[in-house]
Amino acid sequence: MAPSSSWCSMGFLRSRLFLAFLLLVCVSNGGKTFAQSASGKPNIVFILADDYGWNDIGYHGSVIRTPNLDRLAAEGVKLENYYIQPICTPSRSQLMTGRYQIHFGLQHSIIWPPQPSGLPLDEVTLPQRLKDSGYSTHIVGKWHLGFYKEEYTPTHRGFDTFYGFLTGSEHYYSHRTPGSMKGWDGLDLRDQDRPVLDQNGTYSTNLFANKAIEIIAQHDKSKPMFLYLPFQAVHGPLQAPQKYISMYRHIKDRDRRVYAAMTSVMDEAVGNITDALKQYGLWDNTVLVFSTDNGGQVLMGGNNWPLRGWKGSLWEGGIHGVGFVNSPLIKAKGRTSDALIHISDWFPTLVGLAGGSTNGTKPLDSHDVWEAISEGKPSPRKEILHNIDPLFRTIYYLPPHQWGDNTFNTSMHAAIRSGDWKLLTGYPGNGSWMPPPSSDQICEESDDPPGKHLWLFNIREDPEERTDLSKKYPLVVQELLEKLAAYKKTAVPPFYPDRDPRANPALHGDVWSPWQ
Ligand SMILES: *[C@@H]1O[C@H](CO)[C@@H](O)[C@H](O)[C@H]1NC(C)=O
Ligand SMILES: *[C@@H]1O[C@H](CO)[C@@H](O)[C@H](O)[C@H]1NC(C)=O
Ligand SMILES: *[C@@H]1O[C@H](CO)[C@@H](O)[C@H](O)[C@H]1NC(C)=O
Ligand SMILES: *[C@@H]1O[C@H](CO)[C@@H](O)[C@H](O)[C@H]1NC(C)=O
Ligand SMILES: *[C@@H]1O[C@H](CO)[C@@H](O)[C@H](O)[C@H]1NC(C)=O
Repeated sequence: MAPSSSWCSMGFLRSRLFLAFLLLVCVSNGGKTFAQSASGKPNIVFILADDYGWNDIGYHGSVIRTPNLDRLAAEGVKLENYYIQPICTPSRSQLMTGRYQIHFGLQHSIIWPPQPSGLPLDEVTLPQRLKDSGYSTHIVGKWHLGFYKEEYTPTHRGFDTFYGFLTGSEHYYSHRTPGSMKGWDGLDLRDQDRPVLDQNGTYSTNLFANKAIEIIAQHDKSKPMFLYLPFQAVHGPLQAPQKYISMYRHIKDRDRRVYAAMTSVMDEAVGNITDALKQYGLWDNTVLVFSTDNGGQVLMGGNNWPLRGWKGSLWEGGIHGVGFVNSPLIKAKGRTSDALIHISDWFPTLVGLAGGSTNGTKPLDSHDVWEAISEGKPSPRKEILHNIDPLFRTIYYLPPHQWGDNTFNTSMHAAIRSGDWKLLTGYPGNGSWMPPPSSDQICEESDDPPGKHLWLFNIREDPEERTDLSKKYPLVVQELLEKLAAYKKTAVPPFYPDRDPRANPALHGDVWSPWQ
């Protein structure tokens, strides 16, 4: 085992004691009734931050100042046992469908811009169901669920309006996606299906916040509103207005300093949006959810300390995410919740709040967790399939007989949580503990032998994944391998097509566009 750091263990212990304390002192104000909109249904504002790490929010002790997020979380319910997927497309696809990605073929990697792929058209989406319940539905920001055919774009997947970008990352000011795609470079910013050509130079966090406020201002209050706001922030590239970078002169590491600035702009944007909801009389009947899409990217200024690993991995640093809910409709406010909740759970939870129905969707892998959030009832969720990805390349070779027995081939990149247990197989990603840059701690590498491909942790007791218990509890290992095998039987084959040269923006007026 890596040397255990008393600092970080203590940090977790402290936060657990604090949590127990909060649970004791916070009494429910249940029973109170609230003014409802003409329709009686709550407005739903879902803010999704991109690559936002566990240790990047003020209330987790970050050096980054997030006063608006801290206040909203403190007034509402902090979700401290909240899980997302390790990368962008999978988290977004599960948020939109309430289903695990193994069930629609997106279990491997992300959708790269030139790939002819997308969230399958026979999946029912969250905005579709909310629209069926009478909502006006808007997306402002990043889609990243496919666009090679027009049918895959947001306005064909349940959103009345779309202002934002279709690919996964781009320049914050020029709104272009350069470089990595074999030199392909194109504009990626749209208002409905029209390219937006006049915003070169506007920082995307301001642009999207202002667009969201415009939608709030113009909203027809006889209808409930669903506003989905997947910010570009705080995904790389590292770019922020100088004014905000100057707020963090004391952070020596340049990447961390710019990342902190990007976070501050996002925090301010969230403040502006909640102000607008109040100003236009929507707030009293609004449920605001804030969530990250995956763990922080430590190679781009993000941080998940004291969790192990980071974005892209099945270690907790990739999947144990920042999340909270604020709403006047919450019955027991000002709480920290340790209910097990997964990003897929928003589908039935929000459809439920909207008085809608999940009838006629494909089988859901998710639970309505509203009572757990609002009233502190136990979470109906006991298990999370973090993923099974048969295409993920292991970085080492073992003789075939060493990949476990016939239950589940442990060469596969997979992880499952069941109760407090978590099992990981294959290569989960880099499993170092990365402290925040410019701090006194040093990176701790694990001393797992190369080729190790099976771990068992008790996450409640060991949230930092420091003590592998797989040798000590072989029956638990066997049971979890059987669960993985059962899930694997329900999976559809991964869909990960080759890049299509016809996607090149040069063929489409310099704009990333549907090409088939
Ligand atoms: C965007 O603005 C930058 C900086 O002013 C300029 O260099 C660039 O050429 C502009 N790009 C487009 C596509 O207009
Ligand atoms: C928030 O609103 C203030 C006041 O209108 C504005 O100056 C600022 O740029 C806004 N911030 C963001 C991130 O949109
Ligand atoms: C959903 O299905 C159940 C069982 O078939 C039915 O009782 C219920 O009315 C349906 N709800 C809606 C809103 O369609
Ligand atoms: C498990 O997968 C590895 C890597 O694909 C393969 O070499 C091995 O034969 C498989 N083992 C079994 C028992 O299927
Ligand atoms: C994990 O990542 C850290 C930081 O980038 C690096 O120093 C280390 O060598 C990596 N470890 C492995 C096993 O790849």
